[in-house]
Amino acid sequence: MQRTLIIFKPDCVQRRLVGQILQRFETKGLRLVALKLIQVDRALGEKHYAEHQGKPFFEGLIQFITGSPVVVGVLEGNEAITVVRTLLGATNGAAAVPGTVRGDFSISKQNNLVHGSDSEESSRREIALWFKPEELTDYTIAGTEWVFGGA
Ligand code: RTP
Ligand code: MG
Repeated sequence: MQRTLIIFKPDCVQRRLVGQILQRFETKGLRLVALKLIQVDRALGEKHYAEHQGKPFFEGLIQFITGSPVVVGVLEGNEAITVVRTLLGATNGAAAVPGTVRGDFSISKQNNLVHGSDSEESSRREIALWFKPEELTDYTIAGTEWVFGGA
């Protein structure tokens, strides 16, 4: 079972799409481990997007992610990292395939609604950055074997 960090970015919260998109993740079979609404400060934004420091879009990206609250969460399930990235679609909403979150709801490179960790290493780093260990719950959803069976 894998865990991944998701961020419903400021455009997602402002456009009131959080519930609709979270429903896609839940319907797919992913389990919520943690979820909270927070205002991101510059230090957290810069740490989260450290790999993009120095790129032309970096300053705009920090302004964007700190500009309005985000909903951040942890999802768990079989191959959760790839599953979430596949559901999200390509980074550029204008190029993302219909049926994906970005393909259906975004037409922008930056304002692409939701972040998903891109590897196990990123997922570990990002979950530790955004959540205290005690914020990560441990529980079983009844009937889990019907969702994850034969994985
Ligand atoms: P994310 O990290 O948010 O899940 O998105 P991603 O892996 O698909 O894309 P990544 O290359 O990691 O870029 C991080 C975020 O930066 C913004 N971006 N803007 N204006 C631009 O050219 C540009 N390129 C990237 C997007 O918000 C992207 O999700
Ligand atoms: Mg990324």
